[in-house]
Amino acid sequence: MTGVNEIRSTFVEFFEKNGHEHVASSSLVPRNDPTLMFTSAGMVQFKNVFTGKEKRPYTRATTAQKCVRAGGKHNDLDNVGYTARHHTFFEMLGNFSFGDYFKEQAIRYAWEFVTKVISLPKDRLLITVHPDDAEARQLWKKIAGIGDDRIIDIADNIWAAGPTGPCGYCSELFFDQGEAISGGPPGSPDEDGDRYLEFWNLVFMQFDQVDEATRVDLPRPSIDTGMGLERITAILQGVPSNYDIDLFRALIAASEDATGVKAAGPNQASHRVIADHLRSTSFLIAEGVLPSNEGRGYVLRRIMRRGMRHAQLLGAKEPLLHRLVPSLVRQMGETYPELVRAQQLIGETLRLEETKFRQTLQRGMHLLDEATSGLGRGATLSGDVAFKLYDTFGFPLDLTQDALKPRGMAVDTTTFDAAMQRQKAEARRAWKGSGEAATETVWFEIKENVGATEFLGYEAHAAEGIVRGLFKNGSEVAALGSGDTGSIVVNQTPFYGESGGQVGDTGVIRSASGALFRVTDTAKKLGDLIVHNGIVESGSFMPNDAVELSVDHLRRSAIRANHSATHLLHEALRQVLGTHVAQKGSLVDPDRLRFDFSHTMPISADDIARIEDLANAQVLLDTPVETRLMNLDDARNIGAMALFGEKYGDEVRVVAMGARANERANRAWSVELCGGTHVARTGEIGVVRIVSETGSSAGVRRIEALTAHGARAYLATQDARVRELSSVLRTRPDDVVDRVKAMVEQTKALEKQLADAKRSIALSGPAQTNGAASPMDEVRTIGKVRYLSRLVKGLDPKDLRSLVDEGKKQVGSGIVAIVGVTEDGKAGLAIGVTSDLMGSYSAVDLVRVGAEALGGKGGGGRPDMAQAGGADGSKAPAALAAIEAELGR
Ligand code: SER
Repeated sequence: MTGVNEIRSTFVEFFEKNGHEHVASSSLVPRNDPTLMFTSAGMVQFKNVFTGKEKRPYTRATTAQKCVRAGGKHNDLDNVGYTARHHTFFEMLGNFSFGDYFKEQAIRYAWEFVTKVISLPKDRLLITVHPDDAEARQLWKKIAGIGDDRIIDIADNIWAAGPTGPCGYCSELFFDQGEAISGGPPGSPDEDGDRYLEFWNLVFMQFDQVDEATRVDLPRPSIDTGMGLERITAILQGVPSNYDIDLFRALIAASEDATGVKAAGPNQASHRVIADHLRSTSFLIAEGVLPSNEGRGYVLRRIMRRGMRHAQLLGAKEPLLHRLVPSLVRQMGETYPELVRAQQLIGETLRLEETKFRQTLQRGMHLLDEATSGLGRGATLSGDVAFKLYDTFGFPLDLTQDALKPRGMAVDTTTFDAAMQRQKAEARRAWKGSGEAATETVWFEIKENVGATEFLGYEAHAAEGIVRGLFKNGSEVAALGSGDTGSIVVNQTPFYGESGGQVGDTGVIRSASGALFRVTDTAKKLGDLIVHNGIVESGSFMPNDAVELSVDHLRRSAIRANHSATHLLHEALRQVLGTHVAQKGSLVDPDRLRFDFSHTMPISADDIARIEDLANAQVLLDTPVETRLMNLDDARNIGAMALFGEKYGDEVRVVAMGARANERANRAWSVELCGGTHVARTGEIGVVRIVSETGSSAGVRRIEALTAHGARAYLATQDARVRELSSVLRTRPDDVVDRVKAMVEQTKALEKQLADAKRSIALSGPAQTNGAASPMDEVRTIGKVRYLSRLVKGLDPKDLRSLVDEGKKQVGSGIVAIVGVTEDGKAGLAIGVTSDLMGSYSAVDLVRVGAEALGGKGGGGRPDMAQAGGADGSKAPAALAAIEAELGR
């Protein structure tokens, strides 16, 4: 039992046997502790369990927890490579009691494990306690049977994970590695030597540090212990340094192989740095942290670049770190399957960063050599040079410091900070002159003061954050009170700010004191400041409040499905219509997606069906959706679709989904540059349904589509409609269409029959005189001509002509006048003159007389047939009388 993997499981099994729940390691990015950059101890995931805020179904737990100590309160980065014990990434073994057992039992378990399970010799063990914790001293004496001389008071023995939260006295276990190694016992002047090695810390959690000035008792005293896995392994393997344990030996061997340089002499530190940094960067990337210039992403970048400089020191001619990933996966992939899942992403991200950084590393080192050439040990490098290295060559400050370490030099950080401030002031002046300033200044200022918001929403829909700014009516305010409409800016959030066509998230923000802010919309300002807009429903919010942010995640799921479906449809459109299809606009909200693209013609129903089929085939293949950070050229090379004319940074987020064409294809079905949030697997889209296809502007078509629940609801409604129709039509759903077609034909035939019937009725039988006194519907002779007049009700004006033609046949030679009155009381008039009379009478003139009597306007036509319309039906008899009078003149 000596390998890292066995030691890890021996610890966990011991505590499981003693009633502890084996809980999986939590993420390295803490969601429940906004004061922490990374998970730095086993207790971080249990912070709210200790304070009683969160309940779990167990009161004892054991974990092997991934930890990163780089950036933030716990920062070991500077020491890594130069000491036997420091790491940026390590594993912490722990046992925890949440108000179950306390000091005595914790000491019993620790002593049993150390002396019985892993059998460390008792006489090599030393204990430290806090001077005020006499109880702990007593218990150690009783349980371990050791004397006061082996129990040392240390005033620093109080442990807390951060500035606030649970804390308590602690008691540490030390192992004496023997005289061969220099160093004194804890508390002695030469305690920093390696002889006495601290390997296990038992924290007796008793207090909750609410803020700087207030410390209250925890509801129930609890236990948090942490044992460094690498340290205990070094002790058990009898090696002087953590870097000599089996796991590190394997990683360092891989780095020796890849560089052809032995890990000895001055090169040893570089191999250690590389092995250590390989672990922290790979685990961070596996958890979705990607290199950037802000927040966690910047810490990752700093670690990566520090490692890359050491690769270069070893003479590596090509990017190195990515080549060591398989060896890490072999060592740790079984315990941490996330490494296996993300292996490709880790490799690509490391390779990209190293390729890019190598371009300036050499030149930057050259500048550094020149700037220090005249300087001796103990000298200080000007902060201006360090700033130039930072600004122009991408050297994080700690990389420059690390490079100077072997030369015994340091950086003047005061002038470095001043140079940084000057650059900010410059940016501010440029901003003020940019014209954008008027409305956005408030956002510029907050971003300058507190930095960009870190977006956690690719991975999480709930997280804790710290209030960094409160806003009302466009100005920063000292508080937001109940009923206030305003905005909140925090340090980190899972809320997506509207951008790239995807709408902003909604949800709630709660403070520890129970205040509630309803987020009705989330916006993105100045690229990476996320602003939560909404209303305070109760309580009030102040800067620095710790808050819990929860996105309405059903709504977000719907948005994600719609966004991923947009990518699938984009590719399907290109395959069916042609590669001229390019995105012209897009809207992704929870209810639907809208996609505008370049294409001139309406899309046929067959093509719509093919597009839907292609997209749905990818949904059903249920492949994982993969996201990577790439440089823009690489992204273009693999055919990622980008928006023409859009400005991108040199690093872009690339979202790939759908099956590869074959094993060797390096391109997934759809590959797009995108900052939005997506489903984890295409299957979550459920189904894609295009519901409309229209023209949006010249040369641009628009489709709208639904997915998942929205599509299902739509299809259910359509289905219900067909069922209702079939019941009304008394036919089977399958026959509805034939039935309706038949009915349409039948209706046409009936309409025609009806029109014919109306016409023939209109010209025969008694006239409908509408109660008028004037004689009508007789063929009478007025003066020298025969005259047929008629008033017909319920006649469509368009039928007047054919009635007049009919009338002309009846009179043979003469004048025909018909007034039709529609159901809604409008009159139309038509006059016909038989051809033999055309020299003496004009239908156009006669119509004018009639139209005047009707109170309408003019009318017109030809001498043999003229018409007028749109007049008052009640005057119809008067019109016929007026025409008769005209003929009699
Ligand atoms: N939280 C304590 C530590 O990190 C014990 O787990 O040392």
